[in-house]
Amino acid sequence: MANSMWKGFALVGVLLLTHAQFAAAAEGEVAPSGNHLLPQPASLHAGDGAFVLAPDFSFHIDGPHSARLQSAADRSVRELRTRAGFAPAIPGSNASLTIQIHASSPAFLTAEEDESYRLRVTSTGITLDAPTDIGAMRGLQTLVQWVQPSQGNYVLPAVEIDDSPRFRWRGLLVDCSRHFEPVPVIKRTLDAMEAVKLNVFHWHLADDQGVRVESKVFPKLTGVGSDGLFYTQQEIREVVAYASDRGIRVIPEFEMPGHSTAWLYAYPELSSGAPPTGIRREFGIAPYAMDPTREETYQFLDKFLTEMATLFPDAYVHIGGDETTAPDWKTSPRIQAFMQSHNLKDSAALQAYFNQRILKVLTRLHRHMIGWDEIFNPALPKDIVIQTWRGEASMGASTGEGYQGILSAGYYLDGMQSAEQHYRVDPAPSDAKLTPQQRSLIRGGEVAMWGEFINEHTIDSRIWPRAAAIAERLWSPESTRDIDDLYRRLDALSTQLDGLGVQHIAHQDAALRTSAGTEDIAALKTFASVLQPASFHDRFGRGKARQADPLDHLSDAVRPDPPARHEFDRLTKAFLQSPQTSSDEQHALEAHFRALADCAPAVLNQVRSAPNLQEAQNRAEQLPALAEVGLQAVDALAKNAAKSAEWQSHALALIAEAAKPSANVHFIFLEPLKLLVTAVRQ
Ligand code: ACM
Repeated sequence: MANSMWKGFALVGVLLLTHAQFAAAAEGEVAPSGNHLLPQPASLHAGDGAFVLAPDFSFHIDGPHSARLQSAADRSVRELRTRAGFAPAIPGSNASLTIQIHASSPAFLTAEEDESYRLRVTSTGITLDAPTDIGAMRGLQTLVQWVQPSQGNYVLPAVEIDDSPRFRWRGLLVDCSRHFEPVPVIKRTLDAMEAVKLNVFHWHLADDQGVRVESKVFPKLTGVGSDGLFYTQQEIREVVAYASDRGIRVIPEFEMPGHSTAWLYAYPELSSGAPPTGIRREFGIAPYAMDPTREETYQFLDKFLTEMATLFPDAYVHIGGDETTAPDWKTSPRIQAFMQSHNLKDSAALQAYFNQRILKVLTRLHRHMIGWDEIFNPALPKDIVIQTWRGEASMGASTGEGYQGILSAGYYLDGMQSAEQHYRVDPAPSDAKLTPQQRSLIRGGEVAMWGEFINEHTIDSRIWPRAAAIAERLWSPESTRDIDDLYRRLDALSTQLDGLGVQHIAHQDAALRTSAGTEDIAALKTFASVLQPASFHDRFGRGKARQADPLDHLSDAVRPDPPARHEFDRLTKAFLQSPQTSSDEQHALEAHFRALADCAPAVLNQVRSAPNLQEAQNRAEQLPALAEVGLQAVDALAKNAAKSAEWQSHALALIAEAAKPSANVHFIFLEPLKLLVTAVRQ
């Protein structure tokens, strides 16, 4: 029910775009409603006519053979053919798509890959021209998103696209330590990354709650430190190959010297002080750290990293390095004596010493070091890369000293911010006070999906489609920034990812069915469509959060930044511009508030009787009164009728009450509702 309602609203959106569409068409651009590309290309010019997909559609590659490109083209053409309703391609049929490449990139990608491509579509054929097979693979993803229905056919409108990324480093971190994510989850995440041209999979494999990579040299790492939930070396190789086939580098992260409880439980001799007595089950910063003063620590890490280098071919290895509180470093007489004899004045200096020792190992293995802000120290050479989680000032400080940087502050998905908020964060905005050298040192950014409150069922909706907004920020020109247009394209992308098997839409319904114990979840879906989960900080701050906590509450089912949130904002703003002119926005708002009021009795029944939904009873009780206020406000505004001061203060009190934390879920329409209420004449 909620779905079809929102589809109706999306149609309104398309109608509203008509003016922009005409204006753009006059400038030779493709009508925005037909352009669903995400990320948007650097340059796009519409031509005349369109290429009509026909059952004999197939492709041909000119240039050096690349198995990776062959399989990418097979997949893309299959996706296009499926979309158009055709059976798989017939070998030897008409090659209407010609892919021309000039060189194949190395088997495993580098951070300097040329990803540019030129795509030409005319009514008679398609050419995709790229310096490398990786560029051609990016162009294939553009082609797949370019197909659109027209007069009973699927067509590719004539177009000239010249494209290359703004930043070469466009990553997604997935934390598989706090909660383990099985290989199929990783693979579908890589499929989705390919669709939006993300090119670095940052695999957070070891932290306080588990070591997830098999070591044959140190088998206790997973034997003792993983609860049996880890990737075998065979699985790691499989994932690395799968990623490479999609033009994605895999960078492993092994946290050291802090965030290492599981590791130190397995090998207590590495611990700075008394070792942990188990894997850490609660979240938050742990006090345990590796001992940087003992040679055995470096011998261990040398062997471990040498083994890992056989599994991970990328030139970069992430050593974590964040949040090392290490109280033992301050209290142990042995460690203090070591620091004095090595002229290390504080814990930061000791950590820098540790990092220098690890850097020697990585250099011998022909690997570069990446770490979080905390590894920034003049004792380290300039070829390390610093990933910023602390914010713009940190990035400014390290690039100011000549270090390369990657931005993740502003891209933390567990903050449950909207796609719009993430989209506004730019690693190197043109109005920032950065020298040309600092700009050249900013290599890109990474989305971060931390694992405290996700599991294999909920992870997809926490990542997608919001990560796609950041993918566009990192690929497309800085001037691509229209928020309404972003959401229009995110809707299309969501459907594309759903078709690829990503569970970001499907999971909510499945979770609601499981909780309610019935297929009859129409009312619950409407309720869920206007809720979103509380942020990491809200949830974490509300009591001890632990690894074993079940993630099967309403807050785990509902989606961050659900489509209804932006739609409510957009409709309200448009309606308030001229409330007395009967408009599509007015009717859409009324329909929505009416649906919310109507679903409330059934929601309350189901919430009361389902054990893991009961905590949301308060939200279910708040819903109908809020919906009634919405209906009353829209009605008064449309009629330009006055309401009493008591009505307004009562309405605002209801909204304020509903804004308070409850059941780790928030209503997504309170701000627009407040705008409506305060716009009513008194
Ligand atoms: C981090 O969020 N501590 C990297």
